Amino acid sequence: MSDFLVKRDALRECRVAESAPPSIESGQALLRVDRFGLTANNVTYAVMGEAMSYWDFFPAEDGWGRMPVWGFAEVERSEAEGLEAGARVYGYLPPSSHLPVTPGSVNEQGFTDRSPHRAALPSAYHRYLVSTEDPFYRADSEDIQMLLRPLFYTSFLIDDQLADDGLTGRGPIVISSASSKTAIAAAFLLAQRDGVELVGLTSAGNGEFVEGLGIYGRTVTYDEIGSLDSGPATYVDISGDGTVRQAVHTHFGNDLVHSMAVGITHWEELGAGQGDLPGPAPALFFAPTRVEKRSADWGPAELERRVAEAWHPFCEWTAGWLETIPGQGFDGLQSAYLDVLEGRVGPKSAHVVTL
Ligand SMILES: NC(=O)c1ccc[n+]([C@@H]2O[C@H](COP(=O)([O-])OP(=O)(O)OC[C@H]3O[C@@H](n4cnc5c(N)ncnc54)[C@H](OP(=O)(O)O)[C@@H]3O)[C@@H](O)[C@H]2O)c1
Repeated sequence: MSDFLVKRDALRECRVAESAPPSIESGQALLRVDRFGLTANNVTYAVMGEAMSYWDFFPAEDGWGRMPVWGFAEVERSEAEGLEAGARVYGYLPPSSHLPVTPGSVNEQGFTDRSPHRAALPSAYHRYLVSTEDPFYRADSEDIQMLLRPLFYTSFLIDDQLADDGLTGRGPIVISSASSKTAIAAAFLLAQRDGVELVGLTSAGNGEFVEGLGIYGRTVTYDEIGSLDSGPATYVDISGDGTVRQAVHTHFGNDLVHSMAVGITHWEELGAGQGDLPGPAPALFFAPTRVEKRSADWGPAELERRVAEAWHPFCEWTAGWLETIPGQGFDGLQSAYLDVLEGRVGPKSAHVVTL
């Protein structure tokens, strides 16, 4: 068994640990982790590992963490009723060679990992979906699914919440880290709504790329926030950068209708920005909470159906420009992780690792 470990309090320190192959008991199955994507989202899991319990999904030795990833695994062995060895599944995985699971609610579509240590964690992360039965799945677009599916799901929910709260017609929606995949997917969906005005905030080096996407009405770099028109606006914060947040809130002041805290791509700038924050207090957006709400409103199957329907056009559009950077084995994983951590990956690209 191999595990990619990150030092919890010093994310630049990482290593691969070897141990005896895991055994499984009756009622359990063993997944062999095959492939997964790696973007700023995974670094956020590590940055927020303690605060939001992301380290608790896949426990590791003291002081070290296994950063969760989204990808595909194969059922290598199964002692669980209804789950056959050989099935290919998509879900939340450790950056490890294997994951023992305790399948529950097993059906043709997949299973839920009922391992006791996961019980208190958000249920949106527990389901493993059998690819042959999955409405999202197409064998020719596995890379895009691993990379973008969890992010797109979030973006779908951001678009839904902004529309539901009546924020799509109350001045521009200003999105930071506009070059991130989560921002791009949210902007792609929002741009399809009538009358929505979208402003993409990004770093100077990514301005041309964001402009070229053609989904934001206007692209503004972080040092040009003062050039935005004043008046009502909504801030969707994907950078988590304290200085940018301060500049946006100061610029719009009490006209800022809503400030949605989604991500922290600029993870080292989280605590930056000084003084009182004018306008509304930032409200944390947590996708699993919104999944629970919409599952209750619409039913889980209808939520899945709506996300899958919106997903395929996005997937096709993205395939036209997204370049995947393939990585192999734990060496490839380590180098991809450090590239993502240090912000060395261009916005047109994304890492996919095959173990
Ligand atoms: N709240 C939720 O439920 C939820 C769900 C899903 C994702 N998210 C969050 O959304 C964020 C975006 O994730 P993603 O995977 O879509 O990101 P991504 O595509 O990997 O983002 C890449 C972009 O982030 C900025 N960036 C990345 N690393 C950086 C660094 N080290 N220093 C400075 N800038 C850096 C750059 O954008 P700019 O130059 O444009 O700033 C870069 O183009 C993550 O924080 C993720 O956790 C939140």
